[in-house]
Amino acid sequence: MQATRRRILESLSEAPVSGPTLADELDVSRAAVWKHIEALRERGFEIDSREDGYVLLGTPEFGGASVEYGLDAPFDIEYHDSIGSTNDRARELAAAGESNVAVLADEQIGARGRLDREFSSPSGGIWISFVCRPDLPPAQAPIYTLAAAVATTEVLHDVGVDAGIKWPNDVLVDGEKLVGILTEMEGEADRVSWIVVGIGINANVDADAVPDTATTIRELIGDVDRAALTRALIERFEELRNAPESVLSAWRDTATTLGQRVRVETPGGDVVGEALDIEFPGTLVVATDDGEERVSAGDCEHL
Ligand code: BTN
Repeated sequence: MQATRRRILESLSEAPVSGPTLADELDVSRAAVWKHIEALRERGFEIDSREDGYVLLGTPEFGGASVEYGLDAPFDIEYHDSIGSTNDRARELAAAGESNVAVLADEQIGARGRLDREFSSPSGGIWISFVCRPDLPPAQAPIYTLAAAVATTEVLHDVGVDAGIKWPNDVLVDGEKLVGILTEMEGEADRVSWIVVGIGINANVDADAVPDTATTIRELIGDVDRAALTRALIERFEELRNAPESVLSAWRDTATTLGQRVRVETPGGDVVGEALDIEFPGTLVVATDDGEERVSAGDCEHL
C-alpha cells in the first residue's frame, strides 16, 4: 500500500480528521487527499465523510489492502481473488529478481502440493507464498520450512485452534490436515538464490470442499478474521526467519512427532523407530532397532 494511504488510515483510525488537516499533515493538496480517500473506498475501506471530518468505519474482509493495513513486516502483498498457484506466481517474481513479496490469494485453481500432488484451495482459504532471498547455503533451506510451520501453528493457537506439527511441516488437528507447506528454491552449490515458501491454510472453507483426510478452521471453530490471521502469520514468519537459532526450540514446543513411533519413507528405504529429536536445519533423529538414524527428508507417518 502507498505510504500516503497507510498514513491516512493511521490518522483516521484514531479520530475523525478533516480533509484540510490531512492535507497539512501529509503535505499534499486537498484534491490529492480526496483521491486517496476514493481509492481506499474502492479497495473496501468504509470511510464516512462527516462534519468533523473523515471517519474510518470498517476495513475490507480480505485482500491486499486489508492485510497490509497495520502490517509490521517488510513484505509487499500481491493479492489475487483467483490464481493458478501462488507458488508459481512467487517463482516468477523470484526469477525476475523480486524479494520480500507475499503473493496472496482467496482461491487457487492449480495449486501444487509436495511431490507434485494436487492441493485443493477453494475460495475462503489463506493461500500465500513468500518470495525470500536469504544469504544461506542450500542445505540450510529446510529451516525456512520449519519456520513457516512454527509460525502457522503459533498463530493458529492464538485464535483457539489446537494444531500440532507432524515432521517436517504438516500442520494437523486430531490427525487431520489443516495446513500444507511447500518450499521451493533455486541456488548454486554454496548459496541460495531464492526460496519460495508456500503456505495453504484451510480457513473459512466448508469441510466438504477439502479431502476427507483434511479439516478446516470453519469446521473446528467457525470463521476467523483472515486478514488479521494472515498479518500475524507474516509477522511471526518474519521474526523466526531472522532468528534461525530460535526455530528448533519453537518447533519442539509445537510439534507432535517427538516421542512418537514413526515410519519415514525415504528414497533409501523406510526408517522406523521412535522420533527422538530434531537437529538443525530440520533433521529428524530416529532411534531404530539398529541405533540412531538421521533423516533429512521423507513422508512421515505416526504409528
Ligand atoms: C502439501 O501438503 O503437499 C503442500 C501443500 C502446499 C500448498 C500451498 S497453498 C499456497 C502455495 N501455492 C501452491 O500452489 N502450493 C502452496
